[in-house]
Amino acid sequence: MHSYEKLLLENRAWATEQVQTDPQYFKRLAAQQAPEFLWIGCSDSRVPADKITGTEPGEIFVHRNIANLVVNTDMNLLSVLQYAVEVLKVKHVIVCGHYGCGGVKAAMGNHHFGIINNWLKEIKDVYRLHREEVDVLPTEEQRVDRLIELNVREQIFNLAKTSIIQAAWKNEQRPHLHGWCYGLNDGLIKPVCEMNAGSKIDSLYEYDNL
Ligand code: CO
Repeated sequence: MHSYEKLLLENRAWATEQVQTDPQYFKRLAAQQAPEFLWIGCSDSRVPADKITGTEPGEIFVHRNIANLVVNTDMNLLSVLQYAVEVLKVKHVIVCGHYGCGGVKAAMGNHHFGIINNWLKEIKDVYRLHREEVDVLPTEEQRVDRLIELNVREQIFNLAKTSIIQAAWKNEQRPHLHGWCYGLNDGLIKPVCEMNAGSKIDSLYEYDNL
Protein backbone atom coordinates (compact mmCIF):
# COMPACT_ATOMS: atom_id res chain seq x y z
CA MET A 1 0.00 0.00 0.00
CA HIS A 2 1.26 3.47 -0.84
CA SER A 3 1.49 5.92 2.06
CA TYR A 4 -1.17 8.18 0.61
CA GLU A 5 -3.64 5.32 0.37
CA LYS A 6 -3.60 5.10 4.15
CA LEU A 7 -4.97 8.64 4.23
CA LEU A 8 -7.97 7.61 2.15
CA LEU A 9 -8.59 4.57 4.32
CA GLU A 10 -8.36 6.66 7.48
CA ASN A 11 -10.78 9.13 5.93
CA ARG A 12 -13.37 6.41 5.30
CA ALA A 13 -13.01 5.14 8.84
CA TRP A 14 -13.36 8.65 10.26
CA ALA A 15 -16.44 9.53 8.19
CA THR A 16 -18.12 6.27 9.18
CA GLU A 17 -17.38 6.85 12.83
CA GLN A 18 -18.76 10.40 12.73
CA VAL A 19 -22.05 9.23 11.26
CA GLN A 20 -22.29 6.41 13.78
CA THR A 21 -21.99 8.77 16.74
CA ASP A 22 -24.11 11.53 15.15
CA PRO A 23 -26.18 10.67 12.05
CA GLN A 24 -26.85 14.37 11.32
CA TYR A 25 -23.17 15.34 11.61
CA PHE A 26 -22.38 16.02 7.95
CA LYS A 27 -25.85 17.30 7.08
CA ARG A 28 -25.51 19.95 9.76
CA LEU A 29 -21.95 20.92 8.80
CA ALA A 30 -22.72 21.03 5.11
CA ALA A 31 -25.63 23.41 5.70
CA GLN A 32 -23.55 26.22 7.19
CA GLN A 33 -20.36 27.29 8.93
CA ALA A 34 -20.32 29.88 11.68
CA PRO A 35 -16.82 29.85 13.13
CA GLU A 36 -16.00 32.33 15.88
CA PHE A 37 -12.28 32.30 15.16
CA LEU A 38 -9.91 33.03 12.31
CA TRP A 39 -6.59 31.25 12.79
CA ILE A 40 -3.48 32.47 10.98
CA GLY A 41 -0.77 29.93 11.63
CA CYS A 42 2.44 28.45 10.26
CA SER A 43 2.25 25.75 7.58
CA ASP A 44 4.47 23.54 9.75
CA SER A 45 2.94 20.05 9.89
CA ARG A 46 3.48 19.88 13.64
CA VAL A 47 1.08 22.74 14.40
CA PRO A 48 -2.42 21.57 13.41
CA ALA A 49 -4.80 24.36 14.42
CA ASP A 50 -7.80 22.21 15.32
CA LYS A 51 -5.96 19.44 17.12
CA ILE A 52 -3.97 21.67 19.47
CA THR A 53 -7.02 23.76 20.35
CA GLY A 54 -9.47 20.87 20.66
CA THR A 55 -11.78 22.43 18.09
CA GLU A 56 -14.12 20.56 15.76
CA PRO A 57 -14.87 21.10 12.07
CA GLY A 58 -16.89 24.32 11.76
CA GLU A 59 -15.23 26.06 14.69
CA ILE A 60 -12.19 27.77 13.22
CA PHE A 61 -11.53 29.34 9.84
CA VAL A 62 -7.91 28.64 9.00
CA HIS A 63 -5.19 30.30 6.95
CA ARG A 64 -1.66 28.98 7.11
CA ASN A 65 1.55 30.08 5.46
CA ILE A 66 5.26 29.85 6.19
CA ALA A 67 5.97 31.65 9.49
CA ASN A 68 2.37 32.90 9.90
CA LEU A 69 2.84 36.23 8.13
CA VAL A 70 0.29 38.94 7.47
CA VAL A 71 1.54 40.57 4.28
CA ASN A 72 -0.61 43.40 3.00
CA THR A 73 -0.05 42.54 -0.67
CA ASP A 74 -0.97 38.87 -0.17
CA MET A 75 -4.30 38.45 -1.97
CA ASN A 76 -4.76 35.05 -0.42
CA LEU A 77 -4.43 36.30 3.16
CA LEU A 78 -6.48 39.42 2.45
CA SER A 79 -9.29 37.40 0.89
CA VAL A 80 -9.39 35.03 3.86
CA LEU A 81 -9.32 37.97 6.26
CA GLN A 82 -12.07 39.88 4.50
CA TYR A 83 -14.32 36.84 4.24
CA ALA A 84 -13.75 35.87 7.86
CA VAL A 85 -14.33 39.37 9.21
CA GLU A 86 -17.06 40.70 6.90
CA VAL A 87 -19.06 37.60 5.99
CA LEU A 88 -18.42 35.04 8.75
CA LYS A 89 -18.14 37.85 11.30
CA VAL A 90 -15.53 36.13 13.45
CA LYS A 91 -15.08 37.54 16.94
CA HIS A 92 -11.40 36.70 17.30
CA VAL A 93 -8.41 36.60 14.98
CA ILE A 94 -5.50 34.54 16.25
CA VAL A 95 -1.97 34.69 14.87
CA CYS A 96 -0.22 31.61 16.18
CA GLY A 97 3.53 31.19 15.69
CA HIS A 98 5.53 28.34 17.12
CA TYR A 99 8.87 28.04 18.85
CA GLY A 100 11.56 26.47 16.70
CA CYS A 101 9.97 27.84 13.50
CA GLY A 102 12.20 26.95 10.55
CA GLY A 103 11.00 29.99 8.60
CA VAL A 104 12.16 32.38 11.29
CA LYS A 105 15.45 30.49 11.68
CA ALA A 106 16.08 30.72 7.95
CA ALA A 107 15.29 34.44 7.96
CA MET A 108 18.00 35.02 10.58
CA GLY A 109 20.63 33.39 8.40
CA ASN A 110 22.21 34.24 5.08
CA HIS A 111 21.59 31.14 3.01
CA HIS A 112 19.61 31.61 -0.19
CA PHE A 113 16.91 28.94 -0.40
CA GLY A 114 15.25 30.29 -3.53
CA ILE A 115 11.88 31.98 -3.96
CA ILE A 116 11.13 31.56 -0.28
CA ASN A 117 13.71 34.21 0.60
CA ASN A 118 11.36 36.83 -0.84
CA TRP A 119 8.77 35.70 1.68
CA LEU A 120 11.26 35.49 4.54
CA LYS A 121 12.36 39.07 3.89
CA GLU A 122 9.31 40.14 5.92
CA ILE A 123 10.85 38.43 8.96
CA LYS A 124 14.24 39.99 8.31
CA ASP A 125 12.48 43.36 8.56
CA VAL A 126 11.09 42.39 11.97
CA TYR A 127 14.57 41.26 13.03
CA ARG A 128 16.08 44.57 11.90
CA LEU A 129 13.50 46.48 13.98
CA HIS A 130 14.38 44.51 17.12
CA ARG A 131 17.97 43.56 16.46
CA GLU A 132 19.38 44.93 19.71
CA GLU A 133 16.83 43.15 21.88
CA VAL A 134 17.32 39.83 20.08
CA ASP A 135 21.09 39.81 19.67
CA VAL A 136 21.88 40.24 23.38
CA LEU A 137 20.30 36.86 24.17
CA PRO A 138 22.99 34.25 24.94
CA THR A 139 21.94 31.24 22.82
CA GLU A 140 20.78 30.84 19.24
CA GLU A 141 17.66 29.04 20.43
CA GLN A 142 16.72 31.97 22.66
CA ARG A 143 17.35 34.47 19.87
CA VAL A 144 15.21 32.51 17.43
CA ASP A 145 12.42 32.04 19.97
CA ARG A 146 12.38 35.74 20.89
CA LEU A 147 12.18 36.71 17.22
CA ILE A 148 9.32 34.23 16.83
CA GLU A 149 7.39 36.12 19.54
CA LEU A 150 8.28 39.52 18.09
CA ASN A 151 7.23 38.29 14.65
CA VAL A 152 3.81 37.26 15.98
CA ARG A 153 3.39 40.69 17.58
CA GLU A 154 4.35 42.39 14.32
CA GLN A 155 1.76 40.35 12.42
CA ILE A 156 -0.89 41.46 14.94
CA PHE A 157 0.14 45.07 14.17
CA ASN A 158 -0.05 44.26 10.45
CA LEU A 159 -3.63 43.06 10.92
CA ALA A 160 -4.54 46.27 12.75
CA LYS A 161 -3.10 48.28 9.86
CA THR A 162 -5.56 46.78 7.35
CA SER A 163 -8.72 48.64 6.38
CA ILE A 164 -10.62 45.38 6.95
CA ILE A 165 -9.80 45.29 10.67
CA GLN A 166 -10.10 49.05 11.13
CA ALA A 167 -13.57 49.15 9.57
CA ALA A 168 -14.78 46.23 11.70
CA TRP A 169 -13.35 47.82 14.85
CA LYS A 170 -15.11 51.07 14.10
CA ASN A 171 -18.48 49.68 13.07
CA GLU A 172 -18.85 46.44 15.03
CA GLN A 173 -16.31 46.55 17.90
CA ARG A 174 -14.76 43.26 16.78
CA PRO A 175 -12.67 41.22 16.15
CA HIS A 176 -10.20 41.04 18.99
CA LEU A 177 -6.66 40.16 17.91
CA HIS A 178 -4.55 37.58 19.76
CA GLY A 179 -0.88 36.73 19.27
CA TRP A 180 0.11 33.27 20.48
CA CYS A 181 3.17 31.01 20.35
CA TYR A 182 2.93 27.24 20.40
CA GLY A 183 5.62 25.08 21.98
CA LEU A 184 6.62 22.05 19.92
CA ASN A 185 8.32 20.63 23.04
CA ASP A 186 5.38 20.72 25.42
CA GLY A 187 2.32 21.25 23.22
CA LEU A 188 1.38 24.40 25.11
CA ILE A 189 0.28 27.72 23.67
CA LYS A 190 1.67 30.87 25.26
CA PRO A 191 -0.29 34.11 24.75
CA VAL A 192 2.18 36.78 23.61
CA CYS A 193 0.13 39.88 22.92
CA GLU A 194 -3.41 41.13 22.50
CA MET A 195 -5.19 43.98 20.78
CA ASN A 196 -8.81 44.39 21.70
CA ALA A 197 -11.15 45.83 19.10
CA GLY A 198 -10.71 49.59 19.00
CA SER A 199 -7.13 49.56 20.28
CA LYS A 200 -5.03 52.59 19.47
CA ILE A 201 -2.59 52.13 16.62
CA ASP A 202 0.12 54.43 15.32
CA SER A 203 -1.84 57.31 13.76
CA LEU A 204 0.28 57.02 10.65
CA TYR A 205 -1.63 53.84 9.77
CA GLU A 206 -5.08 55.02 10.82
CA TYR A 207 -7.71 55.59 8.13
CA ASP A 208 -10.09 58.43 9.00
CA ASN A 209 -12.82 57.73 6.44
CA LEU A 210 -13.89 54.13 7.11
CO1 CO B 1 6.99 27.55 11.33
